[in-house]
Amino acid sequence: MQEITVTRTTQPKVKPTDESKLGFGKIFTDHMFLMDYEAGKGWFNPRVVPYGNFSLDPATTVFHYGQAIFEGTKCYRRADGGLQLFRPADNMARMTRSAKRMGMPALDEETALAGLKKLVELDADWVPHQDGTSLYIRPTMIATDVMLGVHAAARYLFFIICSPVGSYYKDGLKPVGIYVEDEYVRAVRGGTGFTKCAGNYAASILAGDVAEQKGYSQVLWLDGVEQKYVEEVGSMNMMFAYGNHIVTPTLNGSILPGITRDSILTLARQLGYEVSEERLAIADIFADIKSGKLTEAFGTGTAAVISPVGELCMKGEKLVIGGGQIGPVAQKLYDTLTGIQYGKLPDENHWVTKL
Ligand code: COI
Repeated sequence: MQEITVTRTTQPKVKPTDESKLGFGKIFTDHMFLMDYEAGKGWFNPRVVPYGNFSLDPATTVFHYGQAIFEGTKCYRRADGGLQLFRPADNMARMTRSAKRMGMPALDEETALAGLKKLVELDADWVPHQDGTSLYIRPTMIATDVMLGVHAAARYLFFIICSPVGSYYKDGLKPVGIYVEDEYVRAVRGGTGFTKCAGNYAASILAGDVAEQKGYSQVLWLDGVEQKYVEEVGSMNMMFAYGNHIVTPTLNGSILPGITRDSILTLARQLGYEVSEERLAIADIFADIKSGKLTEAFGTGTAAVISPVGELCMKGEKLVIGGGQIGPVAQKLYDTLTGIQYGKLPDENHWVTKL
């Protein structure tokens, strides 16, 4: 692992006093972690520095050809005041997988992880205290060559910024309404759907805006070929409960392999639920909601945690799920996952790193 230098800020910011008003990703801490890459040299100069602007040439390749990937992970404050991270090494490993698909260099995962810990330790007072709050950590890699030819860049910047957050959706655990997108698609086989590249999110913004105008929080993406099968909700993987049987779309290359998705599937099995990963036709989901066989729907994600879905709308047809309330399966999984993340329940899977 490389030595990380630290330059402390001389102008610490005022921290938010009302943690109930944090929202998501609006405030940033005092420091950030940076590390540079050059082809032939590898990753170098890992450093924690005061949070601040970058100065980039307008011809920097990330602005033109979008070699940009990111991750999302969180630091939680335990009741005893101590801090802990949840599966951060899995985020770094996923960033390397995203990088490979995007023609970007593999991350120096060990140094990135050490930088993340150093940064969070330095900004520890920014980790909020209130139930349901955390420090959201955003590792990001961008191409920084200055040229207009379409090639993989030879220079990259890896950075980590942190933001104290509350719940991702404004109403917390209150079930959200989701619009099933039947015009646009998010990803196709052989594309970048399994990566956390910025372009996947850019491609989702128009559909998200249209759904919001119709009163829905997000869109549910269908497969990019037949537009028949359930994929994911951009910021969350989707799960459906049939009583105590949980089903979720199989990872097929166009769905993000969510770390929360994997944690929930593991915990669900350990709690005795039946779990299957399948190709799920949206028509079957709608039929099963109508017949009452499908009892709950919920999304999983680092930002979203577990978000119950109380309504699905497709081509104007609106169906309420589970009476529009959070169901027992989502509640049990939420309590178990957050119990581990906040240090209230034993970490039998060794997912937690104490700081
Ligand atoms: C996350 O859950 O960390 C995400 O990256 C989703 C979203 C905020 C873009």
